[in-house]
Amino acid sequence: MNPYLKEYKWSNIFAMLKNNKTLPKEEQSNFQNQLVVITGATSGIGYETARLYASRGAELLLINRNQKKSEQLKQEIEQEFNVPCNFFIADFTHLDQIHAAGDMLAALKRDIAVLIHNAGVYNTKRQFTTDDIEEVFQVNFLASFIINYRLKEKLKRQKQGRIILVNSEGHRFAIGGLKTDDLRWERHHYTGLKGYGSAKTAQLLSMIHFARYFENSEITINAMHPGDVKSNMGLNNGKIYKFFKRLMINPTAKSPMLSAQALYYLGVSDEVKGTSGKFFNFTTEEIPAPHALDLLVAEKLWHISLEMGGLQ
Ligand SMILES: NC(=O)c1ccc[n+]([C@@H]2O[C@H](COP(=O)([O-])OP(=O)(O)OC[C@H]3O[C@@H](n4cnc5c(N)ncnc54)[C@H](OP(=O)(O)O)[C@@H]3O)[C@@H](O)[C@H]2O)c1
Repeated sequence: MNPYLKEYKWSNIFAMLKNNKTLPKEEQSNFQNQLVVITGATSGIGYETARLYASRGAELLLINRNQKKSEQLKQEIEQEFNVPCNFFIADFTHLDQIHAAGDMLAALKRDIAVLIHNAGVYNTKRQFTTDDIEEVFQVNFLASFIINYRLKEKLKRQKQGRIILVNSEGHRFAIGGLKTDDLRWERHHYTGLKGYGSAKTAQLLSMIHFARYFENSEITINAMHPGDVKSNMGLNNGKIYKFFKRLMINPTAKSPMLSAQALYYLGVSDEVKGTSGKFFNFTTEEIPAPHALDLLVAEKLWHISLEMGGLQ
């Protein structure tokens, strides 16, 4: 029996269905000389978001795993928008590289205006990283957790700043909740949707604690669903998944420019200034699934993440 079933409300489900069809709000103002950090900017949503922030005058610091793509992107952005675009290479399937990215950000002498945790992966089959952690969990959740944890004091000292977690309506697929006692999927059958949903759920649960930590400061942390958009997500999987994506997902998928528009609004607009600990579908605030609001699991996960991330 699903322990969360009683907590579902039809009104929240209808709101989600309506929000899925609503286009994001647009922010018109510029963001001149503000430092914006984006993970996974070499394709899809991260790429369009980097371009949009640069087009409004922001300075970029991108955390990517691919050197060549990063060099090309730096050149493209600096030539087209005449703003500094730097990058740091970190593959989030390696904990030491996540820590290195966190250290680099924590040592920055200037304020980070917006930090967008965007890098993500979707695996149809269970895989483990070099750290022996399920890959989707490590890349989509633990990386953002470690970086936020290492940065939290620096951020708190800043005058202001916004953290945005690129999450997903896919968190709803972890329907029975996060299995904190089986994060390696040894006793539960792994599927792509369940693995992805669990990692996104973990990220939402971690947001509860980070939002509490940043209370009474000028730092906010929010999560968002970036729409169902065309990108390279899932293309690391086999032929069957790629065929399914081409046939079933891509025809209705929207442009990642809409995700960028939403991420710009959430990072810059005065309308969300001071809003923290919330989940947005594009730019509309929404109640996530009950299992992503479970305070007991959030507490348990916090300690597990500190240990898994080598932060204790
Ligand atoms: N597309 C959608 O419809 C959708 C819906 C909901 C949520 N999202 C979320 O949106 C975010 C962006 O996804 P996307 O759709 O834009 O997919 P994408 O085109 O595949 O982009 C993913 C980005 O993450 C990077 N990345 C992947 N594995 C990494 C690793 N091990 N270490 C560091 N970086 C890594 C990729 O780098 P490379 O370029 O080197 O591969 C790329 O820059 C993800 O968090 C995803 O879960 C997407």
